[in-house]
Amino acid sequence: MRSKLVVGNWKMNGSRAANATLLSGIVAGLGGAKAACAVCAPAPYLAQCQELLAGTPVAWGAQDVSVHASGAYTGEVAAAMLADFACRYVIVGHSERRAYHGEGNELVARKAKAALDAGLTPIVCVGETLAQREANQTAAVVGEQLGTVLETLSPEEVTKIVVAYEPVWAIGTGKTATPAMAQEVHAQLRAQLKVRVGKEAAQQLHILYGGSMKPDNAAELMAQPDIDGGLIGGASLKAAEFLAIINAA
Ligand code: PGA
Repeated sequence: MRSKLVVGNWKMNGSRAANATLLSGIVAGLGGAKAACAVCAPAPYLAQCQELLAGTPVAWGAQDVSVHASGAYTGEVAAAMLADFACRYVIVGHSERRAYHGEGNELVARKAKAALDAGLTPIVCVGETLAQREANQTAAVVGEQLGTVLETLSPEEVTKIVVAYEPVWAIGTGKTATPAMAQEVHAQLRAQLKVRVGKEAAQQLHILYGGSMKPDNAAELMAQPDIDGGLIGGASLKAAEFLAIINAA
């Protein structure tokens, strides 16, 4: 059995004071939760995450990374810098980066590679828009998004990634994919991973669901055979909600 993994994506939210309250609430409330968990914070707060979370069961990570190692790339953050603050994870290819910053499949794949080269675990996001779903393009769109990553990385590297399926129409909208809809895509993604890394390794990989996952729908979604946890936006900003999702896993 794969363990479950629940990751908070804070997006561009937080302050030193709010983060301190949130993180101490999460750590205090974790108890004997079985699922692994992490928070992905805005880059300026990674030092604070390290300070408050080191030695706790809560890991931390970033929301984006540069493909470059260092140099004249104003505003960018290198994977080695994230590793310097003991990040375990970095989200790559979130739909908001794809939509607002024009990130394409190849750039996302290179970001996943840069993360792996620095010893980080990339959380590779894929997902279709509403128009694509309505045009029956979901399988093709997510297949191509993951496919580019699988072509760019070696099979050995692929065994070290986390995949997150996030239908764009479900992100921050309160609309969730039904467990059956999500499971269908997760099964497709796992089948695609299996072709690249083999059956056994594909069975070990984590595929998270994201898009309006909340305490009241988390258990049902994560009970699906190929849904191994969640990437949580809005509900990760309140300790009680985030903890309820971790405990549902
Ligand atoms: P949401 O965001 O939970 O607020 O829908 C999820 C995400 O974008 O990762």
